Amino acid sequence: MLDWEQIFATRSSRMRASEIRELLKLLDQPDIISFAGGIPDPALFPDVAFKEAYSDIFSSAQVGAALQYSVSEGYKPLREWIASDVAKIGIDCTPDNVFITSGSQQALDYLGKLFLSPNDTALVTWPTYLGALSAFNAYEPNYDQLSLNGNRTPEAYRDTAAKTGGAVKFAYLSADFSNPTGETVDLAGREKLLALADELDIAILEDAAYQHLRYDGEAIPPIMALDIARRGGIENTRTIYSGSFSKTLAPGLRVGFVVAAMPVIRKLVLMKQAADLHSSTINQIAIEHVASRGFDAQVAKIRSVYSKRRDAMLAALDKYMPKTATWTRPEGGMFVWVTLPEGMDGAELLAKSIATEKVAFVPGRAFYADGSNANTLRMSFSCADEAMIDEGIKRLGRLISNAIRAAA
Ligand SMILES: Cc1ncc(COP(=O)(O)O)c(C=O)c1O
Repeated sequence: MLDWEQIFATRSSRMRASEIRELLKLLDQPDIISFAGGIPDPALFPDVAFKEAYSDIFSSAQVGAALQYSVSEGYKPLREWIASDVAKIGIDCTPDNVFITSGSQQALDYLGKLFLSPNDTALVTWPTYLGALSAFNAYEPNYDQLSLNGNRTPEAYRDTAAKTGGAVKFAYLSADFSNPTGETVDLAGREKLLALADELDIAILEDAAYQHLRYDGEAIPPIMALDIARRGGIENTRTIYSGSFSKTLAPGLRVGFVVAAMPVIRKLVLMKQAADLHSSTINQIAIEHVASRGFDAQVAKIRSVYSKRRDAMLAALDKYMPKTATWTRPEGGMFVWVTLPEGMDGAELLAKSIATEKVAFVPGRAFYADGSNANTLRMSFSCADEAMIDEGIKRLGRLISNAIRAAA
């Protein structure tokens, strides 16, 4: 048999299935209460609106164009819609500054490819979105911990990068309701990041996948909006903003986008021509159709459902979790992040939890670039109703309390 590893490129050595994926395969059992998947509830998809959109497309003269190849930048009316939507949150740009991707995951891959030579450093939050680490890993970077409280100097970042033979290229973060912690970076943290990026002369990748899912509290301007306000226009910014229709409309159509200065957009267009030519024409048209007719109503609907589930999860954690556990109180998004006492292991707990309590979550270690903090758990509240959330957290609280007692 061929020794494939011998002929694969070195970059492939970092493409590994995570150990938790194996455990998560067990979730197909019907009686599991799952807080594991970070996915939208399919019951909330605007399926009727999509049916109308596709039916309109198929009964119009546009059908030929909808089924045809199209431009790499993306469908112009959709880019116009996105430009006007992001303008509402202070991102003043033209449709030319908007580039359509096949999900915002593709944006992470392209941005990794665009910025990272082997051994360059990507600054990421600790923990960070696992899919971003997977996307960047293929470009063989090193990771360094992005601190948003200003307690690390630019020299400290530069020195660490130089030691590993590369340069710091960008800071990646999700500023609103991050995956996995659900936390939001406050205005001061965003300003500090802009100042740090200026000093290091690096890009900021602002992943805004959950930006529309705020349930309470004051909205904070995106880093991109602050950058535009400081610099007097998008062409002078260093922030690259990525967004997605996956959490608001539906992920199956795979439509996401990037908003950035033109030099970045021009490179992304060349990359897309080489990678997949363009994102699905018909799906971009359908997204524009649905978004332009009912985006706000759809967002209001999902916010109202998810906020109740968030409340139910926080109430259940208060009720059933042992005092030695702590957790975040997110103002939006899909996740609560639980920290257990030192020494506990989320992966071991998951194996027990699936076997005895039939409750699933994601062990937190996978979200750390250095595989640390095994005592953390990511709990998603998006796909379980309030009664299931109460029951699931009750069982988990029991399991964790017993595990803590056994370890004492
Ligand atoms: C923070 C974050 N960014 C990006 C993505 C990718 O989503 P999509 O490719 O569906 O836009 C996800 C998906 O869960 C996410 O949580």
